[in-house]
Amino acid sequence: MATQRYGLFGWPVKHSVSPQMQEAGFRAAGIDASYELIEVHPDELSERLAWVKAEGFRGWNTTVPHKPAMMAAADQVEPTAQAAGSVNTVINRDGFLEAHSTDGYGLAMSIRESFDLEISGGAFLFWGAGGAARATSVYFAGRGAAAITIVNRTLSKAEDLARVIRGVAPACRVRVYSPAAAAVKEVLGGVDVVVQATSIGLHADDPIAIPADLLIPGLRIVDMIYRPTRLLRRGAEAGCRVVDGKGMLLHQGVRSFQLWTGLAEPPVEAMRTALHRALEEN
Ligand code: ATR
Repeated sequence: MATQRYGLFGWPVKHSVSPQMQEAGFRAAGIDASYELIEVHPDELSERLAWVKAEGFRGWNTTVPHKPAMMAAADQVEPTAQAAGSVNTVINRDGFLEAHSTDGYGLAMSIRESFDLEISGGAFLFWGAGGAARATSVYFAGRGAAAITIVNRTLSKAEDLARVIRGVAPACRVRVYSPAAAAVKEVLGGVDVVVQATSIGLHADDPIAIPADLLIPGLRIVDMIYRPTRLLRRGAEAGCRVVDGKGMLLHQGVRSFQLWTGLAEPPVEAMRTALHRALEEN
């Protein structure tokens, strides 16, 4: 058995490519470690948490539906993750659980790599107001984004998120719209990056997440979904600069790896290669 154990809590979690990505990182860094899938029903989460602590796991990721419960179980939560109400990474310091969210970092790095843009001073539009939008937009607010727009089908959820963002970053200009609002097209034209953060596109037969008539040429779009979506296809056809969620997936994992190992320069390229290979094989 590996000397260090890490894992991923989820339900379901079988589809995850994080083991291939993280284990490639450990190998490249010369660390004898395993990364295990921990598929656990919500009713059994506390039992399995006691188990990973007893087994001496050094840390773990968590995905749906356990993010809120994992945050509640942690002994300490990083402030931005606390404000966003979302954690995806836990460090186990001899039984003291420190929780972080690395999704915002992952998205920021993807935007830097794809568009050569920084978060600080930028204007971002998040399409969606669920867990993914919360975790990332609140991080962006904390990192000095100048303006954040939230567009969501359920306007009250967008307004709730806007309140959180204003609490974290009073100087950030925050606006909310329903997708059908006439102003949305003009607003889209004025932002640096549009982030598709709804769950639309997870399934191959899903409709397009953002109406095609809003896809103006030159628009920079990140779709958090890491498989081909209608938005990515139609966006490219319309002359938008579109990026899928693979970069975000990679960099959120890299940040988790860094939090666990303390390595200043994690083996990003080894992790990227393994991630792409695993996604192709899936
Ligand atoms: P969470 O991530 O918090 O579990 P979710 O229910 O999975 O939330 O939804 C994630 C996002 O996708 C939300 O912004 C949701 O919009 P609502 O807040 O209006 O529910 C959005 N979403 C999911 N399905 C959608 C659809 N068919 N049309 C528009 N938005 C949708």
